[in-house]
Amino acid sequence: MKKKVVLAYSGGLDTSCCIRWLQDKGFEVVCFSANLGSEFSPGELKKKAAQGGVAKLYVEDLRKEFAEDYILPALKANAVYESKYVLSTALGRPLIAKYLVDIAHKEKAEYVAHGCTGKGNDQVRIDTTVKILDPKLKIIAPLRVWELTSRESEIAYAKEKKIPISTTQKKIYSIDKNIWGISIEGGMMEDLRNAPDEAAYILTKSPDATPNKPEVVAIEFEKGVPVKVNGKKKAFLEIIEALNQSGARHCIGRTDLVEDRTVGIKSREVYEAPAAWILIRAHQELESVVLDKDTLNFKQIVGLRYSQLAYQGLWFSRLRKSLQAFVEMTQEKVSGVVKLQLYKGNISAVSRESGHSLYRKELATYGEEDQFDRTDAEGFISIFSLPYRER
Ligand code: ARG
Repeated sequence: MKKKVVLAYSGGLDTSCCIRWLQDKGFEVVCFSANLGSEFSPGELKKKAAQGGVAKLYVEDLRKEFAEDYILPALKANAVYESKYVLSTALGRPLIAKYLVDIAHKEKAEYVAHGCTGKGNDQVRIDTTVKILDPKLKIIAPLRVWELTSRESEIAYAKEKKIPISTTQKKIYSIDKNIWGISIEGGMMEDLRNAPDEAAYILTKSPDATPNKPEVVAIEFEKGVPVKVNGKKKAFLEIIEALNQSGARHCIGRTDLVEDRTVGIKSREVYEAPAAWILIRAHQELESVVLDKDTLNFKQIVGLRYSQLAYQGLWFSRLRKSLQAFVEMTQEKVSGVVKLQLYKGNISAVSRESGHSLYRKELATYGEEDQFDRTDAEGFISIFSLPYRER
């Protein structure tokens, strides 16, 4: 019997070449394609896979699962890597790897494969997740071992082997897109002296094409979960889609980051993530009024470590799950409405309202209604500063 491999298949050049390469190595190839919110055409994928002699193709729309089980937990943690990356690509990988493992089990395959390059984060995320979930599965990453080291050589290989590929056109940028954000790298942006290329952006309007009037969005949370936008109840996935549209109109959520990859390389990536930045900001604004000082401050430390774990693909690790348990505990009172203004690439807070607010105007005010006992302050400061005075 032929050895069987389950390949994570996008329909692009890399994975199309992977199919044939694996077949030539004697494998029966089963493919799995996941829709996480990229341009996705099941019909196109089926056609190409059939032409490529794929034994079986699994196509799964995972947008809801991605939103609810990966993005939402990360939002509650306000997970942002190196201050600028909302982890869109990173959060999708463990989900894809989990399905690879599940399908391998269903198909009784001993091998899984993917089209990640040998110098990126995604290979680390997928391999590590597979190893956590089933250490017995063998992983094949053709791009780490084959001789096709450039796009040109892959195109030549595809031509030689008559592999159906949609375009031979030179792609300028490497792009990864899902509902939480878009990652764009390569081309002239590899030179750090160059500003990002306006033409590289896919979703957001350029700053000079944005409306001259701000837009206010009201986001309601229940225990840390966004449940309404502008008073309308929506599923989390729909909220993300709606805010991506509003944010994109106002050029919200562009970042340009020189980031530290898990494999040690510094690389430059440009991101577009309107909904993610709007939701994280709204969530933080609400937490600022309902969480006590110690919890809020410690949660920031947790969020930082959490984002590193998510970045490295350690989603299914004990530590990430334990930090998640902490984060979930902090969300009990995170209910209320935050209004944000979107304008010319900026998000600003308009209002924060919650039945659990710890803000007390009568304590904060400089007006007549002041209830704070200022005569206590002197004694407090005397004791507070004692160790420093002794020094
Ligand atoms: N730098 C991002 C990450 O490591 C995105 C990687 C994929 N980027 C791309 N342009 N294909 O998560």
